[in-house]
Amino acid sequence: MNPDLNTVLRINRTKAQAKESYDKMSSYYDFFAGVFELKYRNLGLKRLNIARGETVLEIGFGTGHCLKQMAEAVGEEGRVHGIDISSGMLTVSQRRLEKSRLWNRVELTCDDAMNMPYADNQFNAVFSSFNLELFDSPEIPLVLAEIRRVLKPNGRFGVVSMSKDAGNSPFLKMYEWSHENFPQYMDCRPIYVEQSIKDAGFEIQSRDRVSMLGLPGDIVIGIKPAARP
Ligand SMILES: C[S@@+](CC[C@H](N)C(=O)[O-])C[C@H]1O[C@@H](n2cnc3c(N)ncnc32)[C@H](O)[C@@H]1O
Repeated sequence: MNPDLNTVLRINRTKAQAKESYDKMSSYYDFFAGVFELKYRNLGLKRLNIARGETVLEIGFGTGHCLKQMAEAVGEEGRVHGIDISSGMLTVSQRRLEKSRLWNRVELTCDDAMNMPYADNQFNAVFSSFNLELFDSPEIPLVLAEIRRVLKPNGRFGVVSMSKDAGNSPFLKMYEWSHENFPQYMDCRPIYVEQSIKDAGFEIQSRDRVSMLGLPGDIVIGIKPAARP
């Protein structure tokens, strides 16, 4: 039986509030979240298997660790794009890429990913870690439709996200309670990752279920089906 997507908690803050919060966090984000998220981001990138010469996109790139790995993977012939709502995050990422001499392969945009400035069928792969669960429930199908639009046929979408798919453990319920009561500190919340991606018309290539400090997470690779002749 398909999960009831209506049981996913809502996101009530405005985009301006999200931008302000991540701008403030950008200078110290790596100290409190970086270590916790590293292992799962890396597994997501491994599963996405980016190849030399590819054109790829990261949504919600944060402090740019994955952008750096993506730029190394595509090589000089490839291209990496990124979109993030926070100009503070963009500045930190740009600094990292300049230091690594990879900035010439990368193009970053500061905007809400609901407004993707990219052409149809542009990317071989799109990656997003700890970002999809920040969109409000009615926005998730819209942002996934945008990701599908900008991917080439057979293109891969890799997502790392907190997940509700493993059922409601007491720890998950406690986390959801914290999100409802302290949304300014617990901005993300678990979503039905695999079902949302399937509903958006992707075929599931793989799914890894992980435990992130006791909270369930999913790393899913979806494929945009090739257009039928
Ligand atoms: C929890 S952080 C994750 C950062 C990075 N992906 C990682 O795994 O370390 C979420 C990121 O998504 C960005 N973000 C939040 N809402 C966004 C939106 N609507 N459009 C684009 N980026 C957004 C934030 O600015 C932040 O950089």
